Amino acid sequence: MIIAIDGTTASGKGTIAKRLAAHYGLPHMDTGRLYRATAVAALKAGIPLDDADALANMARTLDLADYQEAELRTAEAGKAASVVAVIPEVRQALFELQRAFATQDLGALLDGRDIGTVIAPDADVKLWIDASVEERGYRRWKELRGQGEDVTLEVVIEQLRVRDKRDQSRKDAPAEMAVDAVLIDTTELSIEAAVEKALAAVEAALARGNRT
Ligand code: DC
Repeated sequence: MIIAIDGTTASGKGTIAKRLAAHYGLPHMDTGRLYRATAVAALKAGIPLDDADALANMARTLDLADYQEAELRTAEAGKAASVVAVIPEVRQALFELQRAFATQDLGALLDGRDIGTVIAPDADVKLWIDASVEERGYRRWKELRGQGEDVTLEVVIEQLRVRDKRDQSRKDAPAEMAVDAVLIDTTELSIEAAVEKALAAVEAALARGNRT
């Protein structure tokens, strides 16, 4: 079974993905980490974020074990990830890795922006997780403050708007809901309620799939 979970930044997508993967015993890939690690590698090496060939080379030779979770989670890494993710050569370099993960015999759950549309259009279940930009901004702001970053809520919300726009308007594999995905809006939901809703949506999609 392949489960594709896409959605916007700070929508709850990551938490839902982890919980569903554990529930169904599926190997899980957070594909945003690939873009974040590519961006962090480039920043460390002083490679400009528009040097397509050098960035694609970084992406191809990426070893995720070289990166600490904390350095991948900073606001700077997220922003740079969104910038390098626009480059088709980078997406191409990361495609095979994700596709191979999605099609392994054990089944898989992947979360990202283009899983249901590009990486695994054949997924058994597709979810799109979203929430209002104000609520997502508030969640991200709390997280960043917890990490000691000194930033205002207004700035975080504005950064999310910019990031959403860049992810959704890029030409190659824009972040968008697959036509056969189920939308889950977590704006008013606690984490537990969002996970429950996602689980119910997966069960319903599986039941529908079994009937056809
Ligand atoms: O989910 P995240 O915040 O870790 O993702 C960071 C950036 O990576 C996001 O702004 C867009 C990009 N990304 C992508 O283009 N495609 C994916 N499948 C996952 C992430």
